[in-house]
Order: sequence, then structure tokens, then C-alpha cells
Amino acid sequence: MLLKVEDIDTYYEMSHILQGVTLEVADKEIVTMVGRNGAGKTTTLKSILGLAPIKNGSITFNDTQINKLQTHQIVQKGIAYVPEERRIIPGLSVRENIKLALLKSKNHDREEEMIDRVATHFPVLKERLDQDGTSLSGGEQQMLAIARALVTDPQLMLIDEPSEGLMPLLVEAIAEIVQQINDSGVTVLLVEQNIEMALTISHRAYVIDEGRIQTSGSSQDILADEEIQRRYLTV
Ligand SMILES: Nc1ncnc2c1ncn2[C@@H]1O[C@H](COP(=O)(O)OP(=O)(O)OP(=O)(O)O)[C@@H](O)[C@H]1O
Ligand SMILES: [Mg+2]
Repeated sequence: MLLKVEDIDTYYEMSHILQGVTLEVADKEIVTMVGRNGAGKTTTLKSILGLAPIKNGSITFNDTQINKLQTHQIVQKGIAYVPEERRIIPGLSVRENIKLALLKSKNHDREEEMIDRVATHFPVLKERLDQDGTSLSGGEQQMLAIARALVTDPQLMLIDEPSEGLMPLLVEAIAEIVQQINDSGVTVLLVEQNIEMALTISHRAYVIDEGRIQTSGSSQDILADEEIQRRYLTV
């Protein structure tokens, strides 16, 4: 297993949010975590990255325990994060946003090559390299956020709700990009509220509710299970 999250508990001060979450991601898989608002999806990703330190349990990546490391050390091991709120840096062009992501990565001296890679996956960004990142549309900003993670050559990408706020056509475009990235050899742990999109592109899925994994299985099975959808995935 590439990533193993074993029985973790995560708190925000006194609130006990994740209550014994266990999940696994194999090399080259797309695994998705679906669940309602407040279920604990983002907290799971933040726990893996050391941004929300776990109290109990363990997290291993490539059989190395990472849950005692600092976030930058975890990132250096090959895990990249595309946060829910995208965090495009104001006042910086698309190119500069990408350069900034490269700065601390092992690819810092391969700038032109990495910008070419971005241009291949995201033709719309190629035309906007010198435009201010925050002047991009919502969909383009999402692509930039994914591009910044991609140029660091991660083995695993954690992507938090990439379809949020996007119109259906762009949701489809993002889904295709995630699949392309996976086809190029990158393992993906995807968090989504758009269950249809997420379950269509992923191999396996975990359903989280109230800080606990309620069920898991092949994405196809979960998509077809009306009872699961009714209990955990409808508002
Ligand atoms: N910094 C924080 N301090 C205190 N509580 C928090 C904090 N961040 C999240 N929470 C709480 O933890 C719970 C899980 O939040 P989390 O962000 O993981 O949910 P989510 O599944 O990502 O939801 P959404 O789909 O809305 O993004 C929620 O009840 C939330 O209010
Ligand atoms: Mg969230």
C-alpha cells in the first residue's frame, strides 16, 4: 500500500472530529472520499499532511511512518495537496504562481520543462501564463491550483473538492484532468461532494459521516447503492 491511514483520531481543540478513520490507497489508484458538509473529509486530508495533527493511530506512506513529521517533510516525501480554497497568490502571474510552487521542490531547476508540462495538461493556462492568477475564472484557478501541485512531481496527490462552484462542463473538464494525471502515473486521493463525478472516475471509495468511515467499496457499487446515498450522501 502506498498510503495507510490507521485508526486515526483528530481533534480541533476540544472537538473530537475524526474518530478512528482507517483507509488505504494503493499505488496508481484513484480513491475518493465522499460525504456531506462537515463529515470530516478536509480534516482527513489535513491529518495526512500534518496540518491537523492526529492524537492516536498512524499514517504511513511507502511504509514510512509520516505522522510525526512536519508538513514540509511530508510534502518532500512526494505528497502534494490541492486545497479546497485554491489559494492562488494575488499579485502573481500564473507563471509566478507555478514558479513559487517549484521553489522548494526537487524540480526547482527545471522551470521551463515544468511550465511546458503544465501547458500540455492545461492549454488554457498556456495562453494566460503572464496574466495575474487571481484574474482567472474559477475553473482556470482550479486548474492552476492542480498545476502547482503537479509540477512538484508528486507520487500522491490529495485533491479537495476540485469541482466546487464550477458549472457542469468545467466539472467534466476537471474530471478528465484528474484522470489524465492518474494515467500519467500519479496516485490520487480525491475528496468530493459531487459524488457522481467522483465515483465515475475513481476505482474505490470511502463514505465518511460524522468523522467515521461508514462504508467502503468499489466506486461502481457505491454509486449503485441507493441506501448508502440516502443515509450518508443526501442533505
Ligand atoms: N479549524 C477548525 N476548528 C474547529 N472545528 C473545525 C475546524 N475545521 C473544521 N472543523 C469542524 O470539523 C468538522 C469536519 O470539518 P471538515 O472541514 O473536515 O468537513 P468536510 O467534510 O471537509 O466538509 P465540507 O464538505 O463542507 O468541506 C466540522 O464539524 C467542522 O465544523
Ligand atoms: Mg472540506
